[in-house]
Amino acid sequence: MREAPRPKLPVTDKRIALGVSGSIAAYKAAELARRFVKRGVEVQAVFSRSAPNFIGPATFSGITGREPIRDLAGAGFTHLDITRGLDALVIAPATANIIAKLAAGIADCTISTIVAAADCPVIICPAMNESMWFSGANQRNIETLRVLGYELVGPGKGDLACGDAGWGRMADVAEIEEVVVGRLQTADRFAGRRFVVTAGPTREYLDPVRFLSNPASGKTGYAVAEELARRGGETVLISGPTHLRPSGLVRFVQIETAEQMRDSAKRHFADADALVMTAAVSDHRFGSTASAKIEKDSLPESIQLERNADILAELGAIKTDTQVLIGFAAQTEGLAAAGHRKLAAKNLDMIVATKVGFGEGFAADDIEALLVRAEDERELGRISKRALASTVADELEALLS
Ligand code: CTP
Repeated sequence: MREAPRPKLPVTDKRIALGVSGSIAAYKAAELARRFVKRGVEVQAVFSRSAPNFIGPATFSGITGREPIRDLAGAGFTHLDITRGLDALVIAPATANIIAKLAAGIADCTISTIVAAADCPVIICPAMNESMWFSGANQRNIETLRVLGYELVGPGKGDLACGDAGWGRMADVAEIEEVVVGRLQTADRFAGRRFVVTAGPTREYLDPVRFLSNPASGKTGYAVAEELARRGGETVLISGPTHLRPSGLVRFVQIETAEQMRDSAKRHFADADALVMTAAVSDHRFGSTASAKIEKDSLPESIQLERNADILAELGAIKTDTQVLIGFAAQTEGLAAAGHRKLAAKNLDMIVATKVGFGEGFAADDIEALLVRAEDERELGRISKRALASTVADELEALLS
């Protein structure tokens, strides 16, 4: 059954800085500030030099009860005064220019200086024209920001201020509000906790130029690891080969074969509170691996395969009462039945059954998912892998308590 949306909870004792840079979307930042204030969050707006060309400071003074900061030296503030005790720093809208500065670590203006000094979650909401968004430099900068540990919301696709339609539109203020408030509420939930997340495919080599593998992209596992780390958990991400770059917030372990994943998972699980196994582990390996390339005329007609160990089942057999194990099951059909069967067989606390097929699931950014626990199921429908990661983190929190 689908769950009803949760009521909006007020947020107490939280203070954020809202960086507004020079984009037409700046007018939406006023609505965003209003929403934060309504939820009980203390907001200090910080204007870039060109922001007042797009929205008046008086609008923010009226909404937040504080003058926007426009000049660090002139206003008698220092970047350290502003960032001390700050719970989050939100930049909405973030132009290609401020994104480039942050990716390079430049601190030469109000917003970039505050980001450099901030010791709190930084949430960036890009807004720009589609060709700027997809430009090589911007895409590289965005990837750098993610790897540096900044959280990105949007952009979305739709009508753009320049009259074009496409990607680059700032995320809806309601979505930004939810992400920021969610982060304010969860930022230290997993402080002191240790997690292991596995991701991606494994490769089983026949020889140095041939291997057995699967289409897992690693997107779900990387998103889960990032989310657990954002909530304060010390997180190890064990990954097979993918095209993704891990967030700097996680400790990254690169492996190739199922055997290497098994060794690493066992070692790190020993002192972990939980392990989330999103990896698509190859069930089989070749009977032997040749150290030199086998010429095609020498390849046998049939090749013997051997079963790999079931890593999750092995961990399920040794886990303590306080450790939590979450599995994933990529299924083409019968998600619920397969979920319950694997949950019981591997002694798991929860399993996420996902729908895959040719062109569906693996490389996509969203996926159809069903949470399966011994006592119940929860249908998530089609969900972004990022939202799925957040849901898994919520469930993990409940399981740990
Ligand atoms: N898994 C594992 N070790 C394996 C195979 C799978 O730890 N050798 C884990 C996966 O990482 C996943 C869960 O078990 O979290 C379910 O994997 P899946 O491939 O769906 O199930 P299998 O048990 O391999 O069953 P089948 O392939 O027959 O569906």
